[in-house]
Amino acid sequence: MRTDTPQTIYRKDYTPPSYLVDTVELGFDLDPARTIVANRMTLRRNPDSAQREIELYGENLELVALRMNGNTLSEQDYRIEGSLLTIPDTPEEVTLEIETICVPEQNTTLNGLYTSNGSFYTQCEAEGFRAITYFPDRPDVMAVFTVMLRADKDKYPVLLSNGNLVEEGDLGDGRHYAKWEDPFKKPSYLFALVAARLVCQEETFRLADGRDALLQVWVEEGNLDKTDYAMQSLKNSIRWDEERWNLELDLDRFMIVAVGDFNMGAMENKGLNIFNTKFVLANPRVATDIDFQGIEAVVGHEYFHNWTGNRVTCRDWFQLSLKEGLTVFRDQEFSADMIGTETGRAVGRIDQVRTLRQAQFPEDAGPMAHPVRPDSFVEINNFYTVTVYEKGAEVVRMYQTLLGRDGFRKGMDLYFERHDGQAVTCDDFRRAMADANGRDLSLFERWYSQAGTPVVRAETRYDDIARTYTITFFQSCPATPGQTSKFPFHIPIAVGLLGADGRDLPLTIGGEHLGSTTVLELTESEQTFVFENVPEQPTPSILRDFSAPIILDYNYGDADLLHLFNHDSDAVNRWEAGQRLAMGRLLKLTGEAGVGAPLMLDDTFLLAMGKMLSDETLDPSFREQALLLPSEGMVAEQIEVVNPLSIHLARQFMRANIGARLRTELLAQYEANQTPGEYSPDALSIGKRALKNLCLAYLTAAQDEEGLALAQKQFDEAGNMTDRVAALSALIHARAPGADAALQRFYDEFEDEALVIDKWFMLQASAATTDVAAVRGLMRHPAFNLRNPNRARSLISSFCAGNPVQFHAPDGSGYAFWAEQVITLDGLNPQVASRLARAMDRWRRYTPELQEHMKKALQQVAGQQRLSNDVREVVGKALA
Ligand code: PHE
Ligand code: ZN
Repeated sequence: MRTDTPQTIYRKDYTPPSYLVDTVELGFDLDPARTIVANRMTLRRNPDSAQREIELYGENLELVALRMNGNTLSEQDYRIEGSLLTIPDTPEEVTLEIETICVPEQNTTLNGLYTSNGSFYTQCEAEGFRAITYFPDRPDVMAVFTVMLRADKDKYPVLLSNGNLVEEGDLGDGRHYAKWEDPFKKPSYLFALVAARLVCQEETFRLADGRDALLQVWVEEGNLDKTDYAMQSLKNSIRWDEERWNLELDLDRFMIVAVGDFNMGAMENKGLNIFNTKFVLANPRVATDIDFQGIEAVVGHEYFHNWTGNRVTCRDWFQLSLKEGLTVFRDQEFSADMIGTETGRAVGRIDQVRTLRQAQFPEDAGPMAHPVRPDSFVEINNFYTVTVYEKGAEVVRMYQTLLGRDGFRKGMDLYFERHDGQAVTCDDFRRAMADANGRDLSLFERWYSQAGTPVVRAETRYDDIARTYTITFFQSCPATPGQTSKFPFHIPIAVGLLGADGRDLPLTIGGEHLGSTTVLELTESEQTFVFENVPEQPTPSILRDFSAPIILDYNYGDADLLHLFNHDSDAVNRWEAGQRLAMGRLLKLTGEAGVGAPLMLDDTFLLAMGKMLSDETLDPSFREQALLLPSEGMVAEQIEVVNPLSIHLARQFMRANIGARLRTELLAQYEANQTPGEYSPDALSIGKRALKNLCLAYLTAAQDEEGLALAQKQFDEAGNMTDRVAALSALIHARAPGADAALQRFYDEFEDEALVIDKWFMLQASAATTDVAAVRGLMRHPAFNLRNPNRARSLISSFCAGNPVQFHAPDGSGYAFWAEQVITLDGLNPQVASRLARAMDRWRRYTPELQEHMKKALQQVAGQQRLSNDVREVVGKALA
C-alpha cells in the first residue's frame, strides 16, 4: 500500500542485471505468524553489465541479518530505498546470507508466501518472490534452487517444492523436514512451496524416451473424488506435447496442487504447478461441461509452460506475451486436437472469437489499451490481460497462418535450439520464425508494438465480361493512449468465394490455382487482389477461420449473409454470418427500445434460425453457437451512446420472440438432444447439452408453460451439474414461481462444495432481477467471504461486470457500490480489487447521465489517500 505517486516503468529503460545468481539455498522455518527464511546465494558480476553494485528486491520483510562473504553487513554497508536494497562496490564473486521474517497468516494479498485454510502456499509471478526473501527478483536472473522446508508434522504433513525430493525426515520436536532440489536453472518467479495437510492421486507415466515420471494431483482431504479429470488432462497434455512438438517432460516428478484461495487460474512453477481449485476439482455432480473444459485447458496451459515459459523464459515483464500468447495458442491447439473433429475445432475457434470481441476488443479500445508487448506499466500485475494472453495467442496463430503448420513447427524448433535455458524477447521469437522459414517478418513486428484493433474495410467488384472479381482492402487502426497514428499491419486474410449453389469456387490469382481458400497478405494501407476466371457473381467469405484479430468492415446485405449462413464451408464464417444477421437486428431493436417504439422481429431471421436449429446434419455444438445471440456487451461495443437498459430490452425481446415463434422446433430439439446414461464430458455430449439447454433458455425466456415445467423437471431430476445449473438459471431468469425454492434447495444440497456455492452466488448476481440492495444482502450471507477471490468475484464481479442492467441503474447506486467494494478490497487484495476496478473502463461511452455518476465513483476511488499501485493505475488511466 503506497501513498506516494506510483512510478511508471519503461521497456526502453531495460538494462541487464548487475549480478547473476548461480545457486540459491533457501531454508524455511514455517510458522503462520512468523516464518523465518534463510537465503544463501552465490552471485557473480554479470559481464554484460557495467554496474558494480548488487541490487536486491524485498517487500514486507523484516531483515534480521545480512552477511557478505561471511561478514555481517551493517546498515552503513547497504541502502534500502522502497523495495530496493543496494550493496555498493561489491567484489566479482559474492556469497550472500540473508535472514528475513515474514507473516504468512497476515498476507491477504495471496502474493508471496500466504496461508489458505491454515496451510502454506506461495505465488511468485510476477514479483512475489521479493515478499519471501531479498533477491534480484527479475526473470533474467536464473539460478539453481535448493530448498529446505521445516514445519510442524501434524499440521503440515506434506512439504513440497520444485524439482526432486532428495531428503526428508523427523526433527524430533514435533516438526519434520523435506529437502528439494530443482536441477534446472530458473527465474525466481517460478519458485514454489507448499506445506499443507493434503492427499494425492498419483500415477507413474511412461514418457516417450522410456523414462517413468511420477504424476501427482494434491488436494484437501474430501476432494479425492474430484481429481480424475485433472490427472487425465495432465497425461493427455504430456502426450500431446511429445507428439505435436517433440517436447518431453524434463523432470522425474510433476505435481499439481489445488488451493482454494488463489488470485488467478493457475501457476506454472517448475514441477510444482499451483492451481485455483476451480481448475482442478471436478466430477459430474459438482462441475459443469465448461468447468471440465476449463480444467483440460488450464492443466494443459500450465504444463505447456514448462517449455514455453520455463525452459525458455522472458527477459523482462514487457515480454510477458512471449510465454503467455504462445502458451495460450498451445493450449487452444491442444483442446482442439483433443476433440479431433473439424467442427469441434471450429466451435473452439468460435469461442476464441467471442472472447476477443467480448473482452479484448473493448480493452483495445479503452483507457487501458496496450500493445501485446507493452511499452510501460505502473504495476505489472495489471498487464496479465486479454491483450497479452488472447491477442498474443492470435499473433502467434498468425505466424502459423502465414508460414503453414510445417513452417511454424520449424520456427518453434529453431526457437528452442537457440534459446533453451535463456531469458529472451518477443523479437527473438519472431526472428526464429523468420530465419527458420527464410521469410522477412519485419513488418509483423507491429503486432507487438501497436495497440488497438485494426479495422479492415473491403470493397468488391465483379466484372462479368472479364470474369474477374476484385477485392480492395483498406486498413486503419484507431488511436490508443500514447499512440496517435499507426503503421499498416501485416495481416493474413483468408478468403473464399461462394457460388450461387453455395459451393466454393476455385480460386485463381495471376494464373496460380489456389484451392478454395487462400490467404491474402496485407502489408499496406490499401491493397487490391484480382481473382480470375470467376464464372459468376460470388459471395465473398472474408476472414475465414478468423485469420486475424481485426474488425472486418464489409457491407454485407441480408441475402449475402443468409447465403453464407446456409452454405459457407468455413464453419467460423458460417457462424459469423449468423452473428451479423443477429447484430443487425439487435442494433435496430435497441434503437427502438430506446424510444419506446414497438419491437418486432422479421420472419427472414426467424426462418434462418429455425432452419439452423433443426438441421440435424450439423453438429449440435455448432448449432448452439449459431443460435446464441451476441452478448449485451458486444452490442454495447457497436453503439456510440450506450444505454444498457435498451440493449437488455432488445435482446430479451429477441430471445423471447425466438422462444415463442420457434417453440415447436425448440421443444423438439430439447428432446432430441438429451444425453441419457452416464455423464461424459466428451465433445458430442457437451454439444448436445449446450443445444438442449439453449432451447430451454429460449423457451423459458418466452414464459412458455411447457418450457417452464421442463426447466423445473430438469432441475429436480438432472444427474449432472451442467443440466442442474442450466435449469436453475432458466428458472431464475424467467422469474419462475419455483425459482426461490430451487435456489434454496441448491444451496442446501451443495453447502459444502465451495465451487458450487460460487455458482450459486454468481447465478444470483448476474440475474437482471438482482439489484444492488439484493447484492448487499447476499454479502451478509454467512457463506460470503470477501477474502476469497473466487467468492468475491462470484458475487461482486459478477454483478459489476455481468449484470449490466442493475449495475448501470440510473441512480448510480451500482457505481457507488463498485467504488465501495474496490476500496475495501484494495485494502485486502490489490490484484482482485484492480480487476474489479476495470469494470468502469468504458465509462465514457454511456449516456451523459450515467457518465456523470460513473465519473463521480471513479473520482471517489482515485481520491483515496491509501491506494495500491494496481488500482491507482487503473482508475488513473480511466480518468485521464
Ligand atoms: N502465469 C500464470 C499462467 O498464465 C498466470 C498467473 C500470473 C498466475 C500471475 C498467478 C500470478 O498460467
Ligand atoms: Zn500462462
